Amino acid sequence: MNKNIALITGVTGQDGSYLSEFLLAKGYEVHGIIRRSSVDYRERIAHLEGQPNFHLHYADMTDSMSLVKLVGKVQPTEIYNLAAQSHVQVSFDAPEFTADVDATGVLRVLEAVRTNHLEKTCRIYQASTSELYGKVEEVPQNEKTPFHPYSPYAVAKLYGFWIIKEYREAYDMFCCSGILFNHESERRGETFVTRKITLAAARIAAGLQDCLYLGNLDSLRDWGYAKDYVECMWLILQHETPEDFVIATGVQHSVREFTDLAFRYAGIKLEFKGEGLHETGVCVDGSAELIGKTLVRVSEDFYRPTDVVNLWGDPTKAKAELGWNPQSTSFEDLVRIMVTHDMAKVKADKVAGEVRTNLAEYLEKGIVK
Ligand code: NAP
Ligand code: GDD
Repeated sequence: MNKNIALITGVTGQDGSYLSEFLLAKGYEVHGIIRRSSVDYRERIAHLEGQPNFHLHYADMTDSMSLVKLVGKVQPTEIYNLAAQSHVQVSFDAPEFTADVDATGVLRVLEAVRTNHLEKTCRIYQASTSELYGKVEEVPQNEKTPFHPYSPYAVAKLYGFWIIKEYREAYDMFCCSGILFNHESERRGETFVTRKITLAAARIAAGLQDCLYLGNLDSLRDWGYAKDYVECMWLILQHETPEDFVIATGVQHSVREFTDLAFRYAGIKLEFKGEGLHETGVCVDGSAELIGKTLVRVSEDFYRPTDVVNLWGDPTKAKAELGWNPQSTSFEDLVRIMVTHDMAKVKADKVAGEVRTNLAEYLEKGIVK
């Protein structure tokens, strides 16, 4: 039997780390792309390094030659193209870089496969996004809903979606998109709204932060658990025919609801008052020091020039054709998992901080040399 060899771009990201674990457990040989950075930040995959079937290689989505050489060397049977400048707000500040990685990068991967004559043996998964629906034209959104991208990130991802479809039709390649709605986890980047909230709730409960500043609290999202979603990436590539799938839970909540629940799990009950920039979340129950304090405020800094405010996915096709269960982790469980993780992390960081402070003091006093 031929060996399954996966190449993952974006292996150091939230999804890349869960997908690596998933594929290794299935017996795949997993290869991941990393890029050089002045700080060696590979926290999410540190536990996988050293495993015999897990290999890392330097390459970059903006460097075609590195991709061509790597695809030739690894000879993958499946490529999961997850690498992206994935922060929507940042894409307004760095639109050209975002286009280079998120749009042209997809083309580079496809051409690397063709250059190495692997188009008949290598299946390709493209990380497409619910951001393609943007200024939504239909609620909820399914595979037939028209796209209306509403940020430089989404416009770049639209190119990625269409170039994948084009190569499928032009060259008969097995390449498809998962149109994934927001998925979160305890490994989520700290500037995405969910993780920003769960970390802040944990820090505020521990007395390490005074207030959480957010942008649009009315924004609605269909939030799922990243660990559940990576299974779909694999299922999409195992499907008989190359097709695109919406992956979502089918349940929608606002940023305000997420905040309210996260603080509850951290032992703080909030009451929201006021509107727009003047809205606040005040502590009405919890520890004595916090009661009556304003713990959540709105800041214009987190408003976007154009914001996507009504994402709600319809996972009917994925359920029927992939046999995937969109509700395996509920919204409540997702928030609880993230808050529980961050409360433990804050506690551990606090202890480590105290140790560092004590050590600094000892060093200063000459007790430890
Ligand atoms: P993430 O945590 O931000 O990870 C992005 C990954 O891309 C990181 O490994 C990053 O490497 C890598 N990367 C960025 N620029 C690169 C470059 N020039 N060359 C090589 N690698 C590069 O994102 P995620 O949440 O795991 O999402 C994975 C993919 O799914 C992305 O394409 C995202 O746009 C898409 N998506 C995500 C969601 C979601 O809700 N999470 C929903 C729909 C679609 P470094 O670690 O070196 O920065
Ligand atoms: N990041 C952030 N920070 N977002 C905030 C804040 C804040 O302080 N306050 C409110 N929001 C709102 C944003 O305006 C947006 O409407 C919503 O919360 C979600 O923002 P993010 O968590 O940054 O995620 P996103 O939906 O823009 O993008 C994520 O999901 C996409 C799939 O729909 C990313 O993972 C993208 O890569 C992915 O494609």
